[in-house]
Amino acid sequence: MKKYSSTDKLLIKSNDILNILFNIKSSGRNYPAKDIHENEMSESDKKIVRNLMRVNHAGEVSAQGLYIGHAILSKTKEQKELMLNMASEEKDHLEWCGHRIKELKGQTSVFNPLWFTGSVAIGMLSSFTNDKNALGFIEETEKQVAAHLESHINKIPKQDNKTFAILKKMRSDEIHHGITAQKHGAKNIPSIIKKIMNITADVMKVASFRL
Ligand SMILES: [Fe+2]
Ligand SMILES: [Fe+2]
Repeated sequence: MKKYSSTDKLLIKSNDILNILFNIKSSGRNYPAKDIHENEMSESDKKIVRNLMRVNHAGEVSAQGLYIGHAILSKTKEQKELMLNMASEEKDHLEWCGHRIKELKGQTSVFNPLWFTGSVAIGMLSSFTNDKNALGFIEETEKQVAAHLESHINKIPKQDNKTFAILKKMRSDEIHHGITAQKHGAKNIPSIIKKIMNITADVMKVASFRL
């Protein structure tokens, strides 16, 4: 059997990282608002939805970063596959939010590169010790994201059935991601970390709502 030198190993790992970074495909599910009629909305209502969906799009950019970071430092093949599968579903969310923003002639957040790189780093950091800690981090993230989406469902104008359908589907996926992490042995993470995660998410939400 061929023995790899340290340089070979480094090269294999860096190719692996590049592959993960740029090769996440969406799982290809249909746009939830595809067959839903676009109701009339005032310009100010449209603006609210554009801003809220910019925040959600930024959240999904972060989800990509987090799951990619987790996948890079997964300790087992099974964990890596689990992370990449969830990243694919998050890619659907990213595309759906982007699509809705385009339909309403809005723009995505200028901070997206920052959210993405920061999230890759956070994902790697939380996967550094072992897979169960990473799963604990995921379970908490998904719990917070599901609660956040619920708040947006309550904020969108009543006639916006399209955004409603997208957020509803995303929320149910995030709940499912949290349950999956729990089923795979997620460890409970310290409450101080949960608080820091909440504060970090709040900074991201405020910034992305504006720009
Ligand atoms: Fe998501
Ligand atoms: Fe998720």
